Amino acid sequence: MKVLGVVGARPNFMKMAPVLEALHGRDGVETFLVHTGQHYDERMSALFFDQLGLPRPDVDLGVGSGPHAVQTADVMKRIDPVLERELPDVVVVVGDVNSTLAAALAAVKRGIPVAHVEAGLRSFDRTMPEEINRVLTDQVSDLLFVTEKPALGNLAREGVAVSRIHFVGNAMIDTLIKHRDRAGSLDMPGRLGLDPRRYGVVTLHRPSNVDDPVRLAALADLLADFSWDLPLVFPVHPRTEACMRAAGLLEKIAAHPGLRLTGPLGYLEFLGLVDGARVVLTDSGGIQEETTVLGVPCLTLRENTERPATVTEGTNRIVGNDPARIRTAWRETLSRPAPAGRIPDLWDGKAGVRIADVLTEWDAARNGRNADNAAAVPVSAGR
Ligand code: UD1
Repeated sequence: MKVLGVVGARPNFMKMAPVLEALHGRDGVETFLVHTGQHYDERMSALFFDQLGLPRPDVDLGVGSGPHAVQTADVMKRIDPVLERELPDVVVVVGDVNSTLAAALAAVKRGIPVAHVEAGLRSFDRTMPEEINRVLTDQVSDLLFVTEKPALGNLAREGVAVSRIHFVGNAMIDTLIKHRDRAGSLDMPGRLGLDPRRYGVVTLHRPSNVDDPVRLAALADLLADFSWDLPLVFPVHPRTEACMRAAGLLEKIAAHPGLRLTGPLGYLEFLGLVDGARVVLTDSGGIQEETTVLGVPCLTLRENTERPATVTEGTNRIVGNDPARIRTAWRETLSRPAPAGRIPDLWDGKAGVRIADVLTEWDAARNGRNADNAAAVPVSAGR
């Protein structure tokens, strides 16, 4: 079986690494890795390959930044000849970025089965580009690998055949579990002169938070206020830096004594920092899951989440965009002990192996090998 994996943007790398690792060395399995180049800065991409031990991409499509339609189209155009040449048995895509949808569409248009890691998550907010990417990628996927139980209901409602869906757990958490000790040994709080549990971490990059200068200025004021209670470390995404600069906010924020701005951090550095934090403020998807596993309170600065298990089981709280509501949640969080969340089912460090098992059994069933497995393994239906 030839498995062609596709990564493009920072949050993809932690999800792909465990899948490739679990496939590596299996009898009759060959892997091929495509990087679309959606993220291209050293600190948004290459550093992650080094830290996570990901194999070098066999191909880098070099698409870079651009409007969504152009970026998506560029990935499709550039990956198509690679698919034609490599003839994979299955294309594995992860997450919900533009590269995910583009690669999935290009593959199905060549009749190549698609496996989607992190299928079925829904924010039910179609103004988010990621929601469009999720819904469409799931519709064209043959194998849907699900991280949390509510996603099963979402897929059922959208008419996805049960036989295609596999609840395997969370591959990104495999990566977290594998690297947590190494991240801790970097002593990130100490390196920044901070005491464990006596600082917060901030990340912001969603268009809904950073593109509007008025909204961004209001958030900056809020963070400046909060940092009198607790120093805040803010690793700034390149898109957010550009927005802060354009809004004339960058120097003001950087000069505030309680706010520590850094550039994008490596995976290990960021994990070490979050693991020692008292609280995290974020609009990221993945960080809601990571804080749940680390037991760190998370305030999500969005009106919704596609990852409800982080709220119902974990340490996440959706606090929206209204400054007064965010302030109340901040005060409540600091005045209480960290919530004792539980770790969702199958977020146990073994999702990559489960995914590799399903893929190899699916391939065997397709090729009529091993009749026992063929009977037991759900294969793609209706295509
Ligand atoms: C993308 C994903 C988002 C994910 C995020 C993680 C989509 C629609 N969005 O958003 O779901 O949460 O990645 O980071 O796929 N830039 C650089 N260097 C880079 C990459 C980006 O400077 O290596 C800057 C460019 O100005 C670029 C902007 O960031 O235009 C946005 O990059 P893009 O990949 O379009 O989206 P993200 O905001 O990173």
